[in-house]
Amino acid sequence: MKRISFLLVAIVGVAGVLASLAPASGRADEPASPIYGVTLPPGYRDWKLIAVSEIAAGDHSQLRAEFGNDIAIKAYKEGTLPFPDGSIVIAHHWTKESSPNNDKVLALAPMVAGLDNPKSFVPGAFINMQIMVKDSKKYAASGGWGFADFKNGKPGDEALHKTCFPCHQPAKDRDYVFTRYAP
Ligand code: HEC
Repeated sequence: MKRISFLLVAIVGVAGVLASLAPASGRADEPASPIYGVTLPPGYRDWKLIAVSEIAAGDHSQLRAEFGNDIAIKAYKEGTLPFPDGSIVIAHHWTKESSPNNDKVLALAPMVAGLDNPKSFVPGAFINMQIMVKDSKKYAASGGWGFADFKNGKPGDEALHKTCFPCHQPAKDRDYVFTRYAP
C-alpha cells in the first residue's frame, strides 16, 4: 500500500512538472497550419455572422458562411481598415444540398406564391474551413494575415497554404478581405 501511494505521488509530481513546461497558450501538439502556425480558435462556431455566400461550379456548389470574432466584427461595423491585430475571420464551407421537404412546403406558402417551382437549398456535409488571423508584426510578409485551411480538424499542406495570400491580393484595398458585412 505504501509503495502504491509513493508511486502515485511520484506520477502526480512528474505530471505537474510536465504541465508547467507546456506553453502558456495552445497545446504543443495542437494542429497548426504550415508556414503560419495558425491553430483553430476555440469557440469559433458561436461567433457572429459576417455574411453568407455560394460558390457554384457545375455540380460542385458550396454554401459558405463567414464568421468573425469580436475584434473583427467591431472593425467591420465601424469600417476600420486595416483590421486591428487580433481580428479573426473564419469561412465555413459546406456542400449545397437540395431540401425536398422544404420545397413541398414552399410550394404552398403564400409568400412565395407567384414564384415558379421554388427550390430550397441547405448546408450539407462540412467540407473545410478557412481562417485569417491578423497579427501585423508576426505576419508582416503576408499583409499582416496568417492563413489556415482545416479539414476534419487537420490543416492542409504547405503547397495549399502558399496559394492563400497571392490569391487575396485583389482585395488589397480592403486589407485582403473579400467578404463584405451583409446588410
Ligand atoms: C483562387 C483564389 C483564392 C485562394 C487560392 C484562396 N482564397 Fe480565400 N477567398 C478568395 C475569395 C474570392 C474569397 C471571397 C469569396 C468566398 O470564398 O466566399 C475568399 C474568402 C476567404 C475568407 C473569408 C474572408 C474573405 O477574405 O472574404 C477566408 C478566411 C479565406 N478566403 C482564407 C483563405 C485561406 C486560408 C486560403 C489558403 C488555404 C485561401 N483563402 C485561398 C480567394 C482565394
